[in-house]
Amino acid sequence: MTTETLNSTSYAVQAQGLCKSYGHDSTRVDALRGVDVAIERSRFTAIMGPSGSGKSTLMHCLAGLDTVDAGDIIIGGVNLSQLNDDQLTTMRREQIGFVFQAFNLVPTLNAKDNILLPLSLAGKKYDRAWFRTVIDTLGLGERLTHKPHELSGGQQQRVAVARALLTRPEVVFGDEPTGNLDSRTGAEVLSLLRASTREMGQTIIMVTHDPVAASYADTVLLMKDGELVGTLADPTVASVSEALASLAE
Ligand SMILES: Nc1ncnc2c1ncn2[C@@H]1O[C@H](COP(=O)(O)OP(=O)(O)OP(=O)(O)O)[C@@H](O)[C@H]1O
Ligand SMILES: [Mg+2]
Repeated sequence: MTTETLNSTSYAVQAQGLCKSYGHDSTRVDALRGVDVAIERSRFTAIMGPSGSGKSTLMHCLAGLDTVDAGDIIIGGVNLSQLNDDQLTTMRREQIGFVFQAFNLVPTLNAKDNILLPLSLAGKKYDRAWFRTVIDTLGLGERLTHKPHELSGGQQQRVAVARALLTRPEVVFGDEPTGNLDSRTGAEVLSLLRASTREMGQTIIMVTHDPVAASYADTVLLMKDGELVGTLADPTVASVSEALASLAE
């Protein structure tokens, strides 16, 4: 594959021919069987599919948290397979943000210090104007001196989203980011994720089981048995539910 075909700037993440299997011989599972994907910049993309279809494997590989057996992953024009371990660590720290189901905040640090942690660990200064923009968009201005246990679940997840956005990464990955939230708080976090694509140009890729969560995305990618089997543009709860039902047949 030439870099010319993949270095298109309208894509935040591109992958071609991704294969990954676990185990050997009779226990072998082909979790990814030749996945090609191109994720447009400043868009909110959801990945859906039955349990075991390879969603988390795909996300972890795209985010450089796990390696593929074959294929290429390009993030912001950089081919991950050409990076050594140190370069990959820097790439993950600076170009990739994460929001997990468990909020993963440091309990002894207040909200502001949690948000700034990745930059303080990297010994970098933060951009005060950008910090203000992120905090205002996420409605966290009044909560910055609170520790995680003094915040609601939704507020904690907003702190995790702010932490992911602060480095202005090429892409933010979420694995069931609203899985631990009630539906109203989940809706709030999803609206903010969507606002970050609209207002900050952020690219978001989210794995979810929930058709309501997926309906906040611009595009839904459908996986089955380690392959990408479909795409839904402008998804609605009804169109997503229908597509999932037909995958289960
Ligand atoms: N570390 C591992 N060792 C062995 N098999 C694995 C491992 N991780 C995943 N698998 C297998 O690879 C396949 C894809 O798993 P993956 O976790 O990507 O699915 P998923 O779509 O995220 O499922 P879920 O919706 O249940 O989270 C499954 O068959 C799973 O059992
Ligand atoms: Mg999973």
